[in-house]
Amino acid sequence: MFQAEPLDFTDKPAAYAELATQARGLLHGERNLIANAANFAALLYHALPMVNWAGFYFFDGDELVVGPFQGQTACVRIALGRGVCGTAAQTRQIQVVEDVNAFAGHIACDAASQSEIVVPLVRADGSLLGVWDVDSPHVNRFDDADRAGMEQLCAVFMDAVEAAGVAA
Ligand code: SME
Repeated sequence: MFQAEPLDFTDKPAAYAELATQARGLLHGERNLIANAANFAALLYHALPMVNWAGFYFFDGDELVVGPFQGQTACVRIALGRGVCGTAAQTRQIQVVEDVNAFAGHIACDAASQSEIVVPLVRADGSLLGVWDVDSPHVNRFDDADRAGMEQLCAVFMDAVEAAGVAA
């Protein structure tokens, strides 16, 4: 069985490229959305330095509902437009928040979280699958290289979703 290991992120683009290769291999050939989401969250949580939460919220047609994740227990439902996740879902723009305490409406699930990145997940047909959310206990943990890397990783995840042709 593949074992997720912490990666050396001294060279972030190289580390994210390696992680994307690992993610592609991990999801390859599996069609089940929950299985792929769970393994994706576990892989990234263990590989990424300085993170305390990594996981999915899926759109149920009305609001976001927590999906597979690693970290402390999380709030279950988030309305579109609320918090960092709801903002990413509503605007379909990646959100990189340097300091969550300065983000109006931030939803504190784990008090340790200080910065956050949330990537909207949109299917090829334009419908919203949900969001991918990673929190850090350090302020300003996520820079442009993390933004690019997370987008790359989420593209790998969405490729698996599209290949499976499943709906959330
Ligand atoms: N902080 C998020 C809520 C989800 S937890 O961080 C896991 C937000 O403001 O949307």
